[in-house]
Amino acid sequence: MTVRHFLTLQDLTPAELNAIMHRGIELKAMQQAGKIFEPLKNQTLAMIFEKSSTRTRISFETGMTQLGGHALFLSSRDTQLGRGEPIEDSARVISSMVDGIMIRTFGHDIVTIFAQHSSVPIINALTDDFHPCQLLADMQTYQEHRGSIQGKTVTWVGDGNNMCHSYINAAAQYDFKLRIACPEGYDPNMDLVNQHQDRVEIVRNTLEAAESSDLIVTDVWASMGQEEEQKLREKAFANYQVNQQVMQQANNDALFMHCLPAHRGEEVTADVIDAKDSVVWDEAENRLHAQKALLEFLMAQK
Ligand code: CP
Ligand code: NVA
Repeated sequence: MTVRHFLTLQDLTPAELNAIMHRGIELKAMQQAGKIFEPLKNQTLAMIFEKSSTRTRISFETGMTQLGGHALFLSSRDTQLGRGEPIEDSARVISSMVDGIMIRTFGHDIVTIFAQHSSVPIINALTDDFHPCQLLADMQTYQEHRGSIQGKTVTWVGDGNNMCHSYINAAAQYDFKLRIACPEGYDPNMDLVNQHQDRVEIVRNTLEAAESSDLIVTDVWASMGQEEEQKLREKAFANYQVNQQVMQQANNDALFMHCLPAHRGEEVTADVIDAKDSVVWDEAENRLHAQKALLEFLMAQK
């Protein structure tokens, strides 16, 4: 059996992503009803973290427990990875002992190399370029609140970062239109934009980008690894804040999402993120349910 990896949303077909989304909704209901479901009994997920995390660590670790398996937290600070052991060697060794590997790191090439040398599924839990697990949760959350996202318009406000790239991929995989409002100099990867130009466009004006939108999404102005650019970015992104004026441009039933952690008063105002159209708490909780569906898809014996 060939090993499947999840490095970007494009590693799964639209039909598989749709099935995982509906399975996430089902697993959530089962969990809430107190049903025990342990398809990953005796299986171990290694979780390699080279960057900080709250939601990702908790959701994967708890998800593995609920599925009857075990999760192993590995910080690069106290493994040989942090001391320069080659990625190829680490991938061979770690994958010889566990059943799946989740990685949060810097360069996307690190997860690609890991996958090339791993005998078990590799899950990208955020790189500088993509954050596909977050999109599983976001798409499940939209479905739960508003039904299918197919044919809808989504507006991304802010940095052309890893989350923005995953939204571009999602536009193709889940079939929606995406408007990206970002300042010049902070564009997403233009090869990726051009690849999906039938559904993705860059609109410099935030209000214009939000017009008649069904979902407004943003993220921090400075991502992990860009902390020293914070002040510079605060200036560059001053006109790229999601506030009430922006939300008012969108459709009446538009939702607001943010992968969190959020900075109130920077990329989003408190009156937007704490309002009723904001679904950020469901979005965060759905990391657990959506990833359980992913883990089951990649790791359960079929
Ligand atoms: N959204 C997200 O990935 O959160 P963490 O950085 O806390 O894992
Ligand atoms: N773009 C953010 C997402 C955090 C979940 C970062 O990479 O830091």
